[in-house]
Amino acid sequence: PPTIPTSAPLVHIGDLQKIADANGGTRAHGRPGHKASVEAVKAKLDAVGFKTQVVPFNHAGAQGWNLIADWTGGDENNILMVGAHIDSVTAGPGLNDNGSGTSAILEVALQVAKANLKPTRHLRFAWWGAEEIGLIGSSAYVRALPAAEKSKIKSYLNFDMVATKKVKKWGVYSDGDKALAAEIKAWYDARNVPTVPLDINGRSDHAAFTRAGIAASGVISEDSLSNLDPCYHKACDTQTSLSPDALGLATNMIAGVMWKLSGAKVAARS
Ligand code: PHE
Ligand code: ZN
Ligand code: ZN
Ligand code: ZN
Repeated sequence: PPTIPTSAPLVHIGDLQKIADANGGTRAHGRPGHKASVEAVKAKLDAVGFKTQVVPFNHAGAQGWNLIADWTGGDENNILMVGAHIDSVTAGPGLNDNGSGTSAILEVALQVAKANLKPTRHLRFAWWGAEEIGLIGSSAYVRALPAAEKSKIKSYLNFDMVATKKVKKWGVYSDGDKALAAEIKAWYDARNVPTVPLDINGRSDHAAFTRAGIAASGVISEDSLSNLDPCYHKACDTQTSLSPDALGLATNMIAGVMWKLSGAKVAARS
């Protein structure tokens, strides 16, 4: 996998902060900052050759969107999917929750394109709407999948809050697939970064996949659910309250795990 400088995902964080600032300080479902976030991420993916789809859904009297991006190639019957919710709460701009996951997987997608990766498995990225009001976008996506399409998705990795300041131990989801959790843990172990198995009780977008029988796991930059970042779900969850180092580490972890699970040969450049 490439070594990704922290500055790379931080560019996306800066862009999401600007979007929040220009839209009343929030990127929540039903607010213009949600749509603007989706459009900004889509534009970056389109520019490097991803096949993108913006899929609308209605919830609580407002339209929301999931953004799905496919990297052409790989076995379409053996899909590795990676996702992060792109909406924030209404109370704030949501830069750690979840501008961090949004930016980390976006940067990994851009790196896949830069490497012109030729994975054995097909790679699909997703940015979910309306997570904050009940995991709505990811649930709608899984529910709408025909059985034949559902069975092609063999693994799902979820990233929701990956840039908490002063992260003590990285919480690797224990409420999901054990083998995927072990892959994530192994990446941290190899670098002597502490982790802890964390049961997040299905409180993020991996839940719909797990329920559908798809192997799913993920990581959060928290070691306990009773001791979350003080700016969690608050107006102070801005770009200055998150940890660039944690964001950079998470981005490299996602790239490392994805490269390995994708079955890519040594990067073939064209
Ligand atoms: N899904 C939560 C959110 O977006 C993040 C979270 C997960 C918080 C698990 C606590 C426990 O707010
Ligand atoms: Zn609804
Ligand atoms: Zn979240
Ligand atoms: Zn949240």
